[in-house]
Amino acid sequence: FDSVAILTSGGDSPGMNPAIRALTRAAFNSGISHVYGINRGYSGLINNDIQKMTSRSVTNIVQRGGTVLKSARCLEFKEPNVRQDAAKILRDRGIEALFVIGGDGSMTGAHLFTEETGIPVIGLPGTIDNDIPGSDDTIGFDTAVNTALEAIDKIRDTAQSHERLFLVEVMGRNSGFIATQVGIACGAEMVVVPEYDFDLRELCLTLAQRRATGQGSSGIIVVAEGKDPGLTNRIAYQLEEQGQNPRICILGHIQRGGSPSGHDRMLASCLGASAVSYLLAGYNDIMVGVNQGSIVDIPLRRVITETKSLNRHLFDITTLLHK
Ligand code: F6P
Repeated sequence: FDSVAILTSGGDSPGMNPAIRALTRAAFNSGISHVYGINRGYSGLINNDIQKMTSRSVTNIVQRGGTVLKSARCLEFKEPNVRQDAAKILRDRGIEALFVIGGDGSMTGAHLFTEETGIPVIGLPGTIDNDIPGSDDTIGFDTAVNTALEAIDKIRDTAQSHERLFLVEVMGRNSGFIATQVGIACGAEMVVVPEYDFDLRELCLTLAQRRATGQGSSGIIVVAEGKDPGLTNRIAYQLEEQGQNPRICILGHIQRGGSPSGHDRMLASCLGASAVSYLLAGYNDIMVGVNQGSIVDIPLRRVITETKSLNRHLFDITTLLHK
């Protein structure tokens, strides 16, 4: 390979920059002569919004949040003819392979693109949601969890002062990985995730018992945003009906920003370096990921057809540690 390109796609995540840096530097240092950065994900690819990278263009980005290549969700890329046009754009520039950093939607695009055009693609899991099958971890998850924890620790101060219950909504439309980890680590009184039913009556009972035993009525309930945008409000309303006076705090996109944690910088750097090695070793149509601490390759077909399930034992810890 003499010429490769990189793009970041879908919702951004802290650690995309160290991944871009690692791919760029590893490519140059492995003898690849040309590295291109594609702006705004698949959108920039189909619009030929592509720039040449140098080893210096990724200087001083290892610690920066967001993605210097920008990101977008591109609906047009779902069309096969658009993917063919994109392949032509790469071929015309002499680009022989593509690295895609993104979440599940981006991996679907990556798989279809290589299957239909023959241009080799290697994926890197970049999403705060940690919901990518085949990999225990994704770039950005650790930072997002830490960002949410920092906010919740502050919320807990005021919750205790006012003996109030707070519903804190964290990201995760289809998955409760952030909510579960954040819930355990902040000592939440309850965690609500899309994967499992929750029993509001049981919560109200627990809260009443705590009040009766003089434990106060402050507390944190972590709610994963889920598919239903009104969920947190509905829970708050039901709690009000049970005599509580809850407050809602939606952490939202704060979780997607910020300087990547040490863990995410390491993960992104190691996955980026490995992705280049896999490409040079002849691998294609794979995503690099982590399995029990080791870097592995996972066929993209598997990534896009399987679902990653939330570990029930881990989730149960959210209730096991209550007073
Ligand atoms: O996939 C990452 C994610 O941050 C989800 O947790 C969230 O539901 C979604 O993106 C929000 O996307 P957008 O920024 O496009 O509204």
